[in-house]
Amino acid sequence: MTPGLPSPTAVGVDVAHLRAQFPILSESAHGHPLVYLDNAATTQKPRVVLDAIARYYETANANVHRGVHMLSERATAAFEAARTEAASFLGAAHPHEIVFTRNATEGINLVAHSWGQANLSAGDEVLISAMEHHSNIVPWQLACERTGARLRVIPMDDRGVLDLDSFHQLLTPRTRMVAVSQLSNALGTVNPVAAIATAAHAAGAAVLVDGAQAAYHRPVDVRALGVDFYVCTGHKLYGPTGIGLLYGTTAQLEAMPPFLGGGDMISSVSFEKSTWNVLPYKFEAGTPHIEGAIGLAAAMRFIRGIGFDWITAHESALLAYGTKALSAVPGVRLIGTAPDKASILSFVLDGVHPHDIGTIVDQHGVAIRTGHHCAQPVMERFGIPATARASLAMYNTTDDVDRLIEALHDVRRTFQ
Ligand SMILES: Cc1ncc(COP(=O)(O)O)c(C=O)c1O
Repeated sequence: MTPGLPSPTAVGVDVAHLRAQFPILSESAHGHPLVYLDNAATTQKPRVVLDAIARYYETANANVHRGVHMLSERATAAFEAARTEAASFLGAAHPHEIVFTRNATEGINLVAHSWGQANLSAGDEVLISAMEHHSNIVPWQLACERTGARLRVIPMDDRGVLDLDSFHQLLTPRTRMVAVSQLSNALGTVNPVAAIATAAHAAGAAVLVDGAQAAYHRPVDVRALGVDFYVCTGHKLYGPTGIGLLYGTTAQLEAMPPFLGGGDMISSVSFEKSTWNVLPYKFEAGTPHIEGAIGLAAAMRFIRGIGFDWITAHESALLAYGTKALSAVPGVRLIGTAPDKASILSFVLDGVHPHDIGTIVDQHGVAIRTGHHCAQPVMERFGIPATARASLAMYNTTDDVDRLIEALHDVRRTFQ
Protein backbone atom coordinates (compact mmCIF):
# COMPACT_ATOMS: atom_id res chain seq x y z
CA MET A 1 0.00 0.00 0.00
CA THR A 2 1.23 3.51 -0.75
CA PRO A 3 2.24 5.24 2.50
CA GLY A 4 -0.16 7.93 3.64
CA LEU A 5 -3.12 6.57 1.72
CA PRO A 6 -6.32 5.15 3.15
CA SER A 7 -6.50 1.38 3.14
CA PRO A 8 -7.76 -0.10 -0.15
CA THR A 9 -10.79 -1.50 1.60
CA ALA A 10 -11.64 1.71 3.47
CA VAL A 11 -15.42 2.07 3.51
CA GLY A 12 -15.18 5.66 4.60
CA VAL A 13 -12.42 7.87 3.26
CA ASP A 14 -11.76 11.11 5.11
CA VAL A 15 -12.28 13.66 2.34
CA ALA A 16 -10.30 16.36 4.15
CA HIS A 17 -7.35 13.96 4.35
CA LEU A 18 -7.85 13.02 0.70
CA ARG A 19 -7.95 16.68 -0.39
CA ALA A 20 -4.77 17.41 1.55
CA GLN A 21 -2.96 15.04 -0.82
CA PHE A 22 -3.71 17.35 -3.77
CA PRO A 23 -1.50 20.43 -3.22
CA ILE A 24 -3.29 22.57 -5.81
CA LEU A 25 -6.60 22.31 -3.96
CA SER A 26 -5.30 24.71 -1.32
CA GLU A 27 -4.82 27.47 -3.91
CA SER A 28 -7.02 30.57 -3.89
CA ALA A 29 -8.78 32.06 -6.91
CA HIS A 30 -9.77 35.74 -6.95
CA GLY A 31 -9.48 35.91 -3.17
CA HIS A 32 -11.61 32.81 -2.51
CA PRO A 33 -10.55 29.26 -1.69
CA LEU A 34 -10.44 27.45 -5.04
CA VAL A 35 -13.36 25.19 -5.91
CA TYR A 36 -12.30 23.01 -8.82
CA LEU A 37 -15.25 21.63 -10.79
CA ASP A 38 -13.62 21.15 -14.20
CA ASN A 39 -12.58 17.55 -13.69
CA ALA A 40 -14.03 16.28 -16.95
CA ALA A 41 -11.46 18.49 -18.70
CA THR A 42 -8.59 17.37 -16.49
CA THR A 43 -8.22 16.22 -12.90
CA GLN A 44 -5.74 17.51 -10.32
CA LYS A 45 -2.69 15.48 -9.32
CA PRO A 46 -1.99 13.95 -5.93
CA ARG A 47 1.39 14.40 -4.26
CA VAL A 48 2.34 10.76 -4.96
CA VAL A 49 2.17 11.45 -8.71
CA LEU A 50 4.26 14.61 -8.45
CA ASP A 51 6.77 12.74 -6.27
CA ALA A 52 6.98 9.75 -8.63
CA ILE A 53 7.85 12.07 -11.53
CA ALA A 54 10.46 13.97 -9.49
CA ARG A 55 11.92 10.70 -8.18
CA TYR A 56 12.25 9.35 -11.70
CA TYR A 57 14.26 12.39 -12.78
CA GLU A 58 16.32 12.37 -9.57
CA THR A 59 17.22 8.68 -9.62
CA ALA A 60 16.53 6.96 -12.93
CA ASN A 61 16.46 9.35 -15.89
CA ALA A 62 17.79 7.66 -19.05
CA ASN A 63 16.38 6.52 -22.36
CA VAL A 64 14.54 3.19 -22.24
CA HIS A 65 15.10 -0.13 -24.02
CA ARG A 66 18.43 0.80 -25.58
CA GLY A 67 21.02 1.19 -22.87
CA VAL A 68 23.02 -1.38 -20.97
CA HIS A 69 23.95 1.02 -18.20
CA MET A 70 22.35 1.07 -14.78
CA LEU A 71 20.19 4.17 -15.26
CA SER A 72 18.76 2.89 -18.52
CA GLU A 73 17.95 -0.42 -16.87
CA ARG A 74 16.21 1.43 -14.02
CA ALA A 75 14.26 3.64 -16.40
CA THR A 76 13.25 0.63 -18.53
CA ALA A 77 12.18 -1.36 -15.48
CA ALA A 78 10.05 1.54 -14.18
CA PHE A 79 8.54 2.18 -17.62
CA GLU A 80 7.63 -1.49 -18.14
CA ALA A 81 6.33 -1.76 -14.57
CA ALA A 82 4.00 1.12 -15.46
CA ARG A 83 2.72 -0.90 -18.42
CA THR A 84 2.08 -3.89 -16.14
CA GLU A 85 0.23 -1.59 -13.70
CA ALA A 86 -1.89 -0.24 -16.58
CA ALA A 87 -2.68 -3.76 -17.82
CA SER A 88 -3.86 -4.72 -14.37
CA PHE A 89 -5.84 -1.45 -13.95
CA LEU A 90 -7.75 -2.12 -17.17
CA GLY A 91 -8.01 -5.88 -16.74
CA ALA A 92 -5.94 -6.72 -19.85
CA ALA A 93 -4.68 -10.28 -20.25
CA HIS A 94 -1.08 -9.21 -21.09
CA PRO A 95 1.03 -6.07 -20.62
CA HIS A 96 1.84 -6.22 -24.35
CA GLU A 97 -1.83 -5.38 -25.01
CA ILE A 98 -1.19 -1.91 -23.55
CA VAL A 99 0.25 0.66 -25.96
CA PHE A 100 1.39 3.95 -24.48
CA THR A 101 0.05 6.86 -26.51
CA ARG A 102 0.02 10.63 -25.98
CA ASN A 103 -3.65 10.66 -24.97
CA ALA A 104 -7.03 9.12 -25.78
CA THR A 105 -7.17 11.05 -29.03
CA GLU A 106 -3.97 9.47 -30.30
CA GLY A 107 -5.20 6.00 -29.32
CA ILE A 108 -8.34 6.42 -31.41
CA ASN A 109 -6.36 7.86 -34.31
CA LEU A 110 -3.99 4.90 -34.12
CA VAL A 111 -6.86 2.40 -34.39
CA ALA A 112 -8.78 4.39 -37.02
CA HIS A 113 -5.62 4.62 -39.10
CA SER A 114 -3.98 1.21 -38.69
CA TRP A 115 -7.03 -0.98 -38.09
CA GLY A 116 -8.95 1.08 -40.67
CA GLN A 117 -6.22 0.55 -43.28
CA ALA A 118 -6.37 -3.22 -42.79
CA ASN A 119 -10.11 -3.61 -42.40
CA LEU A 120 -12.14 -0.87 -44.09
CA SER A 121 -13.07 -0.50 -47.72
CA ALA A 122 -15.86 0.98 -49.85
CA GLY A 123 -19.26 -0.31 -48.79
CA ASP A 124 -18.22 -0.87 -45.17
CA GLU A 125 -19.71 1.13 -42.31
CA VAL A 126 -18.36 2.56 -39.05
CA LEU A 127 -20.96 3.12 -36.36
CA ILE A 128 -20.44 5.81 -33.73
CA SER A 129 -22.91 7.47 -31.37
CA ALA A 130 -24.53 10.89 -31.32
CA MET A 131 -22.79 11.79 -28.06
CA GLU A 132 -19.16 11.27 -29.11
CA HIS A 133 -16.34 13.67 -28.30
CA HIS A 134 -14.76 15.06 -31.47
CA SER A 135 -11.83 12.71 -30.89
CA ASN A 136 -14.12 9.73 -31.55
CA ILE A 137 -15.71 11.35 -34.61
CA VAL A 138 -12.99 13.01 -36.67
CA PRO A 139 -10.50 10.06 -36.81
CA TRP A 140 -13.31 7.88 -38.19
CA GLN A 141 -14.31 10.55 -40.70
CA LEU A 142 -10.70 10.63 -41.89
CA ALA A 143 -10.59 6.81 -42.05
CA CYS A 144 -13.83 6.77 -44.03
CA GLU A 145 -12.47 9.39 -46.44
CA ARG A 146 -9.32 7.30 -46.96
CA THR A 147 -11.09 3.99 -47.47
CA GLY A 148 -14.52 4.83 -48.94
CA ALA A 149 -16.34 3.48 -45.87
CA ARG A 150 -19.41 5.27 -44.51
CA LEU A 151 -19.91 6.80 -41.05
CA ARG A 152 -23.27 6.12 -39.38
CA VAL A 153 -24.56 7.53 -36.11
CA ILE A 154 -26.64 5.94 -33.32
CA PRO A 155 -29.15 8.59 -32.19
CA MET A 156 -30.08 9.47 -28.60
CA ASP A 157 -33.22 10.71 -26.87
CA ASP A 158 -33.91 13.98 -25.06
CA ARG A 159 -32.39 12.67 -21.84
CA GLY A 160 -29.14 11.82 -23.61
CA VAL A 161 -29.78 8.07 -23.61
CA LEU A 162 -28.66 6.07 -26.65
CA ASP A 163 -31.49 4.69 -28.77
CA LEU A 164 -30.62 1.01 -28.66
CA ASP A 165 -33.43 0.00 -31.04
CA SER A 166 -31.85 2.24 -33.67
CA PHE A 167 -28.45 0.80 -32.80
CA HIS A 168 -29.70 -2.72 -33.55
CA GLN A 169 -31.23 -1.52 -36.82
CA LEU A 170 -28.06 0.28 -37.88
CA LEU A 171 -25.93 -2.79 -37.05
CA THR A 172 -25.76 -4.78 -40.30
CA PRO A 173 -23.25 -7.07 -42.03
CA ARG A 174 -21.78 -3.88 -43.51
CA THR A 175 -20.81 -2.63 -40.03
CA ARG A 176 -17.09 -3.25 -39.51
CA MET A 177 -16.50 -1.10 -36.41
CA VAL A 178 -18.65 0.17 -33.54
CA ALA A 179 -16.85 3.01 -31.71
CA VAL A 180 -18.65 4.49 -28.69
CA SER A 181 -17.82 6.33 -25.50
CA GLN A 182 -18.45 4.62 -22.20
CA LEU A 183 -19.27 7.92 -20.51
CA SER A 184 -20.22 11.14 -22.27
CA ASN A 185 -18.18 14.18 -21.27
CA ALA A 186 -20.94 16.56 -22.34
CA LEU A 187 -23.92 14.76 -20.76
CA GLY A 188 -22.58 12.36 -18.14
CA THR A 189 -24.47 9.44 -19.72
CA VAL A 190 -23.02 5.99 -19.02
CA ASN A 191 -23.50 3.75 -22.05
CA PRO A 192 -24.10 -0.02 -21.86
CA VAL A 193 -20.88 -0.84 -23.68
CA ALA A 194 -20.76 -4.53 -22.73
CA ALA A 195 -24.17 -5.13 -24.33
CA ILE A 196 -23.17 -3.00 -27.32
CA ALA A 197 -19.97 -5.05 -27.72
CA THR A 198 -21.86 -8.36 -27.56
CA ALA A 199 -24.29 -7.25 -30.26
CA ALA A 200 -21.52 -5.77 -32.42
CA HIS A 201 -19.44 -8.94 -32.26
CA ALA A 202 -22.48 -11.07 -33.11
CA ALA A 203 -22.84 -8.92 -36.23
CA GLY A 204 -19.15 -9.40 -37.09
CA ALA A 205 -18.02 -5.88 -36.15
CA ALA A 206 -15.06 -4.86 -34.00
CA VAL A 207 -15.56 -2.58 -30.98
CA LEU A 208 -13.62 0.41 -29.72
CA VAL A 209 -14.64 2.04 -26.45
CA ASP A 210 -13.57 5.58 -25.62
CA GLY A 211 -13.00 5.37 -21.88
CA ALA A 212 -11.45 8.83 -21.47
CA GLN A 213 -14.20 9.85 -19.02
CA ALA A 214 -15.17 6.46 -17.62
CA ALA A 215 -11.81 5.22 -16.40
CA TYR A 216 -11.54 7.63 -13.45
CA HIS A 217 -15.16 7.23 -12.34
CA ARG A 218 -15.73 3.48 -12.65
CA PRO A 219 -13.64 0.31 -12.50
CA VAL A 220 -12.79 -0.94 -15.98
CA ASP A 221 -12.38 -4.56 -17.00
CA VAL A 222 -11.75 -4.71 -20.73
CA ARG A 223 -12.20 -8.48 -20.84
CA ALA A 224 -15.51 -8.36 -19.00
CA LEU A 225 -16.61 -5.58 -21.37
CA GLY A 226 -15.51 -7.80 -24.26
CA VAL A 227 -14.09 -4.96 -26.35
CA ASP A 228 -11.37 -5.10 -29.00
CA PHE A 229 -9.96 -1.68 -28.16
CA TYR A 230 -10.23 0.65 -25.17
CA VAL A 231 -8.60 4.06 -24.86
CA CYS A 232 -8.07 6.35 -21.91
CA THR A 233 -5.99 9.39 -21.08
CA GLY A 234 -3.60 9.95 -18.17
CA HIS A 235 -4.47 13.53 -17.28
CA LYS A 236 -8.07 12.64 -16.45
CA LEU A 237 -6.89 9.69 -14.34
CA TYR A 238 -5.18 12.03 -11.84
CA GLY A 239 -1.95 11.46 -13.80
CA PRO A 240 0.23 13.62 -16.05
CA THR A 241 -0.63 15.10 -19.43
CA GLY A 242 0.93 13.70 -22.59
CA ILE A 243 0.36 10.04 -21.73
CA GLY A 244 -2.54 7.81 -22.68
CA LEU A 245 -3.36 4.12 -22.92
CA LEU A 246 -4.58 2.09 -25.83
CA TYR A 247 -5.69 -1.43 -24.98
CA GLY A 248 -6.06 -3.80 -27.91
CA THR A 249 -6.51 -7.55 -27.96
CA THR A 250 -3.39 -9.41 -29.03
CA ALA A 251 -5.18 -10.72 -32.12
CA GLN A 252 -6.27 -7.25 -33.28
CA LEU A 253 -2.94 -5.54 -32.56
CA GLU A 254 -0.94 -8.36 -34.21
CA ALA A 255 -2.99 -8.04 -37.39
CA MET A 256 -2.62 -4.26 -37.70
CA PRO A 257 0.11 -2.41 -39.59
CA PRO A 258 2.20 0.13 -37.63
CA PHE A 259 0.92 3.67 -37.12
CA LEU A 260 4.04 5.85 -36.87
CA GLY A 261 7.45 4.79 -38.14
CA GLY A 262 10.82 5.38 -36.50
CA GLY A 263 13.06 4.10 -33.75
CA ASP A 264 11.94 1.36 -31.33
CA MET A 265 9.04 0.15 -33.51
CA ILE A 266 11.31 -1.82 -35.85
CA SER A 267 12.99 -5.17 -35.65
CA SER A 268 15.33 -4.47 -38.57
CA VAL A 269 15.84 -1.63 -41.04
CA SER A 270 17.49 -1.58 -44.44
CA PHE A 271 16.91 0.78 -47.34
CA GLU A 272 15.04 -1.99 -49.13
CA LYS A 273 12.77 -3.14 -46.32
CA SER A 274 12.08 -2.77 -42.63
CA THR A 275 10.43 -5.28 -40.31
CA TRP A 276 8.40 -4.53 -37.21
CA ASN A 277 9.08 -5.03 -33.55
CA VAL A 278 6.87 -7.25 -31.39
CA LEU A 279 3.87 -5.91 -29.45
CA PRO A 280 3.48 -3.36 -28.03
CA TYR A 281 6.62 -1.71 -29.41
CA LYS A 282 5.39 -1.94 -33.01
CA PHE A 283 3.07 0.94 -32.06
CA GLU A 284 5.49 2.98 -29.95
CA ALA A 285 7.78 4.83 -32.36
CA GLY A 286 10.44 7.07 -30.88
CA THR A 287 11.36 7.88 -27.30
CA PRO A 288 8.23 7.46 -25.20
CA HIS A 289 6.87 9.75 -22.47
CA ILE A 290 8.78 7.84 -19.80
CA GLU A 291 7.99 10.04 -16.80
CA GLY A 292 4.39 10.25 -18.02
CA ALA A 293 4.00 6.47 -17.85
CA ILE A 294 5.65 6.38 -14.42
CA GLY A 295 3.45 9.22 -13.14
CA LEU A 296 0.36 7.54 -14.55
CA ALA A 297 1.25 4.27 -12.80
CA ALA A 298 1.50 6.18 -9.52
CA ALA A 299 -1.92 7.72 -10.23
CA MET A 300 -3.48 4.32 -10.92
CA ARG A 301 -2.04 2.95 -7.66
CA PHE A 302 -3.43 5.99 -5.88
CA ILE A 303 -6.92 5.43 -7.35
CA ARG A 304 -6.82 1.78 -6.37
CA GLY A 305 -5.67 2.76 -2.90
CA ILE A 306 -8.83 4.84 -2.50
CA GLY A 307 -10.91 2.16 -4.21
CA PHE A 308 -13.68 2.50 -6.78
CA ASP A 309 -16.28 1.32 -4.26
CA TRP A 310 -15.78 4.50 -2.30
CA ILE A 311 -15.15 6.74 -5.34
CA THR A 312 -18.34 5.64 -7.09
CA ALA A 313 -20.46 5.93 -3.95
CA HIS A 314 -19.03 9.36 -3.09
CA GLU A 315 -19.45 10.73 -6.61
CA SER A 316 -23.00 9.32 -6.91
CA ALA A 317 -23.96 11.07 -3.68
CA LEU A 318 -22.44 14.31 -5.01
CA LEU A 319 -24.30 13.89 -8.30
CA ALA A 320 -27.62 13.46 -6.47
CA TYR A 321 -26.89 16.48 -4.25
CA GLY A 322 -25.75 18.63 -7.18
CA THR A 323 -28.70 17.63 -9.38
CA LYS A 324 -31.16 18.62 -6.68
CA ALA A 325 -29.38 21.86 -5.84
CA LEU A 326 -29.01 22.95 -9.46
CA SER A 327 -32.59 22.04 -10.34
CA ALA A 328 -33.76 24.32 -7.54
CA VAL A 329 -32.06 27.37 -9.11
CA PRO A 330 -34.73 29.24 -11.07
CA GLY A 331 -34.07 29.19 -14.83
CA VAL A 332 -31.59 26.30 -14.75
CA ARG A 333 -32.14 23.43 -17.17
CA LEU A 334 -29.98 20.33 -16.93
CA ILE A 335 -28.71 18.94 -20.23
CA GLY A 336 -28.24 15.19 -19.82
CA THR A 337 -30.64 13.45 -17.47
CA ALA A 338 -29.94 9.79 -18.23
CA PRO A 339 -30.85 7.38 -15.42
CA ASP A 340 -27.33 5.93 -15.54
CA LYS A 341 -25.16 8.98 -15.19
CA ALA A 342 -21.79 9.95 -13.71
CA SER A 343 -20.97 13.13 -11.78
CA ILE A 344 -21.16 15.57 -14.69
CA LEU A 345 -23.68 18.40 -14.48
CA SER A 346 -24.17 20.19 -17.80
CA PHE A 347 -26.71 23.00 -17.68
CA VAL A 348 -28.03 26.18 -19.23
CA LEU A 349 -29.50 29.17 -17.45
CA ASP A 350 -32.35 31.19 -19.02
CA GLY A 351 -31.18 34.43 -20.60
CA VAL A 352 -27.48 33.99 -19.76
CA HIS A 353 -24.78 32.76 -22.12
CA PRO A 354 -22.76 29.90 -20.58
CA HIS A 355 -19.53 31.88 -21.07
CA ASP A 356 -20.94 34.63 -18.84
CA ILE A 357 -21.83 32.02 -16.24
CA GLY A 358 -18.29 30.66 -16.32
CA THR A 359 -16.72 34.10 -16.05
CA ILE A 360 -18.84 35.21 -13.10
CA VAL A 361 -18.54 32.00 -11.09
CA ASP A 362 -14.76 32.15 -11.64
CA GLN A 363 -14.80 35.52 -9.83
CA HIS A 364 -16.22 33.55 -6.88
CA GLY A 365 -13.29 31.12 -7.07
CA VAL A 366 -15.33 28.36 -8.76
CA ALA A 367 -13.79 26.75 -11.85
CA ILE A 368 -16.29 25.22 -14.28
CA ARG A 369 -16.15 24.72 -18.03
CA THR A 370 -18.33 26.39 -20.62
CA GLY A 371 -18.61 25.76 -24.33
CA HIS A 372 -19.39 22.85 -26.61
CA HIS A 373 -17.04 20.50 -24.74
CA CYS A 374 -15.62 19.18 -28.04
CA ALA A 375 -19.03 17.68 -28.72
CA GLN A 376 -20.63 20.08 -31.20
CA PRO A 377 -23.12 17.46 -32.51
CA VAL A 378 -24.42 17.08 -28.92
CA MET A 379 -25.06 20.82 -28.71
CA GLU A 380 -26.79 20.70 -32.10
CA ARG A 381 -28.96 17.78 -30.93
CA PHE A 382 -30.16 19.83 -27.95
CA GLY A 383 -30.49 23.05 -29.99
CA ILE A 384 -28.07 25.05 -27.83
CA PRO A 385 -24.70 26.68 -28.63
CA ALA A 386 -23.01 25.63 -25.40
CA THR A 387 -23.53 24.54 -21.81
CA ALA A 388 -21.96 25.33 -18.47
CA ARG A 389 -20.52 22.14 -17.01
CA ALA A 390 -19.62 21.34 -13.42
CA SER A 391 -17.86 17.99 -13.24
CA LEU A 392 -17.15 16.42 -9.87
CA ALA A 393 -14.30 14.14 -8.86
CA MET A 394 -13.30 12.13 -5.80
CA TYR A 395 -12.01 15.18 -3.88
CA ASN A 396 -15.12 17.33 -4.33
CA THR A 397 -17.60 17.93 -1.53
CA THR A 398 -21.14 19.17 -1.05
CA ASP A 399 -19.55 22.47 0.11
CA ASP A 400 -18.07 22.80 -3.38
CA VAL A 401 -21.55 22.37 -4.87
CA ASP A 402 -22.95 24.95 -2.43
CA ARG A 403 -20.26 27.42 -3.53
CA LEU A 404 -21.30 26.90 -7.16
CA ILE A 405 -24.96 27.46 -6.31
CA GLU A 406 -24.17 30.67 -4.38
CA ALA A 407 -22.16 31.92 -7.35
CA LEU A 408 -25.02 31.06 -9.72
CA HIS A 409 -27.37 33.19 -7.66
CA ASP A 410 -24.95 36.06 -8.23
CA VAL A 411 -25.07 35.32 -11.98
CA ARG A 412 -28.86 35.56 -11.82
CA ARG A 413 -28.75 38.86 -9.89
CA THR A 414 -26.28 40.28 -12.45
CA PHE A 415 -28.53 39.43 -15.39
CA GLN A 416 -31.90 40.30 -13.82
C1 LIG B 1 -15.17 11.37 -23.90
C2 LIG B 1 -13.82 11.89 -24.27
N1 LIG B 1 -13.12 11.29 -25.23
C3 LIG B 1 -11.90 11.70 -25.58
C4 LIG B 1 -11.32 12.79 -25.00
C5 LIG B 1 -9.98 13.22 -25.46
O1 LIG B 1 -9.04 13.15 -24.44
P1 LIG B 1 -7.56 13.69 -24.76
O2 LIG B 1 -7.74 15.14 -25.14
O3 LIG B 1 -6.81 13.54 -23.50
O4 LIG B 1 -7.06 12.89 -25.88
C6 LIG B 1 -12.01 13.49 -24.02
C7 LIG B 1 -11.44 14.70 -23.40
O5 LIG B 1 -12.16 15.56 -22.90
C8 LIG B 1 -13.29 13.02 -23.63
O6 LIG B 1 -14.00 13.64 -22.68
